[in-house]
Amino acid sequence: MKILAIETSCDETAIAVLRAEKTKSGVEFEILSDQVSSQVTIHAPFGGVVPNLAKREHIKNLPILLKRTLREAKLPLGSFASKLVDAVAVTYGPGLEPALWTGINFARDLAKKWLVPLVPVNHLEGHIYSALMTKPIFLISKSGIFPMLTLIVSGGHTELVLSKNHLQYKILGETLDDAVGEAFDKVARMLKLGYPGGPLISKLAKKGDARAINFPRPMIYSKDLNFSFSGLKTSVLYYLREHPPAGGKFSKADMAASFEKAVVDVLIRKTLKAAEQYKPRTIALGGGVAANDKLREELQKKFPNIILPEKRFTGDNAAMIAVPGYYRFLKKKFAKAGGPKATGNLRLSKI
Ligand code: KG4
Ligand code: ZN
Repeated sequence: MKILAIETSCDETAIAVLRAEKTKSGVEFEILSDQVSSQVTIHAPFGGVVPNLAKREHIKNLPILLKRTLREAKLPLGSFASKLVDAVAVTYGPGLEPALWTGINFARDLAKKWLVPLVPVNHLEGHIYSALMTKPIFLISKSGIFPMLTLIVSGGHTELVLSKNHLQYKILGETLDDAVGEAFDKVARMLKLGYPGGPLISKLAKKGDARAINFPRPMIYSKDLNFSFSGLKTSVLYYLREHPPAGGKFSKADMAASFEKAVVDVLIRKTLKAAEQYKPRTIALGGGVAANDKLREELQKKFPNIILPEKRFTGDNAAMIAVPGYYRFLKKKFAKAGGPKATGNLRLSKI
């Protein structure tokens, strides 16, 4: 079967088509097309994503991307329209509601036109499945994966999630305030690096000394598996006020490296704790911050078998929405007439 997926939860418009076939050992997926259109340059002057601008861009981009995706997947629009794909999947949360609605409305109209089911998907389950998308044709085996522990690190979320099976999620721990990506973006703003801050901090950090400044590691030894990054961000702010980098002892690069190291130390410690407690068979990483080299390197040192998503799948994309969309399709978890409701604060839960 073929599934078309749409993702518009934030500032990336994305459409993908995947082929999925059951085999003896699991499900074979093939990415037939995976199109992403980033709005970074549009939001950069504002220092963050402007929801109504994102909405306007999604509305403009969706029909263009659809044509491109279908062309690349060799599914010509027109002729036997109802045979194009067997299902349409769409992200309905969490994310920016005005942005989510654009994808939902577009997906609902397509599903109606093509007479196929509409499958609502949680954006975070997309980030969980992104680590399993290892090649253009990849197999997700029936056995050997679960229980799977995923560290999700994105602009809006920081969670440790345990999956006992497909589509079964238990949140073991999460951030009590800022998400990791958010902290990266805010610290980048303090250092006047630009937007989005994560990639800029990680680039600058490579030139700095991570031992230069001993920033706090909030909640690193707390008994639970929760996180907190807002205090760390404030420490960087105070530090900057007291030690301006221009002419001072520490460079911006030292600050970036020391901040990054503090974040990575906390993430590693909590992941270790969760792994000891739950003894997962698989450990994986997902979300925009999964592109961070320091985090990838340090995680790999502690967990040599960890599954790291390919860099092109760390940021938001629609291929990662198609995969859980397929498992939801198998379980007939279709949207009711009218489509799903955009849900900005949607949580992962068992289905
Ligand atoms: O998953 P994502 O694309 O969007 C959300 O679902 O939020 O994550 C975006 C976040 C942004 O905060 C961005 O600064 C961060 O991921 N990010 C990084 C890196 N690349 C992107 N953070 C740290 N290091 C990176 N290399
Ligand atoms: Zn995301």
